[in-house]
Amino acid sequence: MNYIKAFAPATVANVACGFDIFGFAIEEPGDVVEVRRRDEPGIIITDITGDEGRLPRAAEKNAVTVVMLHLLKHLGLSDFGCEVVLHKNMPLGSGMGSSAASAVAGVVAMNELLDCPLSRQELLRFAMEGERIASGSAHADNVGPSLLGGFVVIRSYNPLDIFSIPVPADLFCTLVHPDIEINTKDARYILRNEVSLKNTIAQMGNVAGLVAGLMKSDYDLISRSMVDVIIEPVRSILIPEFNVVKQAAIENGALGCSISGSGPSMFALSRGEETARRVGEVMQRTFRDAGIEASKHISGINQGGPVILERS
Ligand code: HSE
Repeated sequence: MNYIKAFAPATVANVACGFDIFGFAIEEPGDVVEVRRRDEPGIIITDITGDEGRLPRAAEKNAVTVVMLHLLKHLGLSDFGCEVVLHKNMPLGSGMGSSAASAVAGVVAMNELLDCPLSRQELLRFAMEGERIASGSAHADNVGPSLLGGFVVIRSYNPLDIFSIPVPADLFCTLVHPDIEINTKDARYILRNEVSLKNTIAQMGNVAGLVAGLMKSDYDLISRSMVDVIIEPVRSILIPEFNVVKQAAIENGALGCSISGSGPSMFALSRGEETARRVGEVMQRTFRDAGIEASKHISGINQGGPVILERS
C-alpha cells in the first residue's frame, strides 16, 4: 500500500455524569487524514486544511503525527517515511473531540498503510498520546469512541479497561456549537480536585443509571440519569446562555442536555430524530437570540467509527 485516506468521527465526551469515562461517536463531522509513503525517512506534514493556519506543522508537535511517531517507534519502524495531509472539518477548542478525531484518523491511516499490524483496540493507547499533546491529559473518552465507534465506557485508566455498551436504536444526538472557543487545558484547570461525599453518591447513582438506561432502552431512566452535579456547575459558567439553552432543549422534548466534552458545544439526547431536530432548532435559536452564532449537527450514535475512504 502506498496511500491511505481515513476518516474519524467527532465525539461527545463525558455525556453529563461520566467525566473522563463516557463518550460516544456521531456520524458527522469528522476529520480526514491522508498518508502517502515517501522514500526519505521521517514524517512530514505537507498540508493542513480548515485550521486557519493555527495547528503546528512540525511532526513532533502535531497530535496527528505524534500518534504516528509513537506507533512507528513501537513497531521498530522509526525510519519509515511518509507525507501527511490533515483536513480539519470541525473547529478547534469546540468540545466535539476535534484533536481526537485527527489523532484517530492519523493512527488508523498509518496502521492501514502498514497492512494493519495492530487491532483497533490496540491503537487506542497511541491515539491517547495525541490527547496528551493537544490538551495535556491523555483522556480516552474522545479517542475511545472515535476509534471504536458506539458508546464507550472507560472503567479504568490504569490498567486501561475500556468497553462499548449497546444503546437504543432510536437514540439521537443534537450537538450545537456556539461560536466561541474553550481550551480543554483551561477547562480542566478550573475543576476542583476534591469532591464531596454527597456529590460522589449522586454522581455514582447517575452513572449507574445511565449505563442501565442505555442497555435496557429505558428512556425515562436515561433522562433521570443525565445529571452532572460535579463538573457542569463549574464549567457551565464558561458558556454564555448555558442554562437558558439547556432549559429550552428539555422543554422541547430532549431527554437531557449538558456540555459536550469540555465545551463550549452543548449536546442533547432525544428519542427519535424528529425530536432531536426540533431540539437543535431551539438550541441554535436561543444562542442566536443572545447574539451568539451557533451551528448544529443531528446524528444517531455512530457504531462504525473510522472509515478508510481511499487506498492505493
Ligand atoms: N473528559 C474530557 C474533559 C473531554 O472533559 O476534559 C475533553 O473533550
